Amino acid sequence: MLKIGVLVSGSGSNLQSIIDKIEQGGLSAQISIVICNNPQAFALERCAKHGIPTALMSHKDFPDRNDFDRKMAEILKGHGVELVVMAGFMRVLSPAFLQEFPMRVMNIHPALLPSFPGLHGQKQAFDYGVKFSGCTVHFADSGVDTGPIIIQAIVPVFDDDTEDTLAARILEQEHRIYPQAIQFFAEGKLEVKGRKVIIKGHPRLGPAAIHNPPVTDF
Ligand code: GAR
Repeated sequence: MLKIGVLVSGSGSNLQSIIDKIEQGGLSAQISIVICNNPQAFALERCAKHGIPTALMSHKDFPDRNDFDRKMAEILKGHGVELVVMAGFMRVLSPAFLQEFPMRVMNIHPALLPSFPGLHGQKQAFDYGVKFSGCTVHFADSGVDTGPIIIQAIVPVFDDDTEDTLAARILEQEHRIYPQAIQFFAEGKLEVKGRKVIIKGHPRLGPAAIHNPPVTDF
């Protein structure tokens, strides 16, 4: 069983989607530890409800990022974590941390990377006026939302959307693709070749394009 450590800062709805998939038997993983850097995070209540061990770490208690990350790596290794899952964890990881878990740290971002990295990906896409947005699960590197892409989901943007309706549509897909990406990892299906992540033994998408708004015969 793959041992994962989940890093959270907020609501933890992605964490919940992973918990649910594990409890349903669809994800061959166990959450060994959840690390949270925000004492107010609702994610902590979710963990308590499901009996998942947590470590609360405030970065204010550490002199610098390297010290914070070193402690985090120590806790994760102490729990035998094989894959680190960033689920709404609002901090960039140091190169030293990433070296401890090479191509073993995943992140989810609420936009179609490489567009709209950083904070508020949904709002950036909405304000830009794109016709499609979505979400991306990728391996983390030391950049901001720049690592090799594992899986993306696309959602349409409608004329009457608000930032909130778009964010909700994206979040629904986040909850589908994150457990799937972790399951690919658990099954040993992910092969990283430079920037490309090959998914072995999984059916590929059909060749049809999608248009928004729909293109009609005229
Ligand atoms: C999610 O939308 C996630 O994609 C985003 O934070 C939210 C966390 O929600 N992450 C980032 O923007 C990282 N750049 P959650 O706590 O309910 O899972």
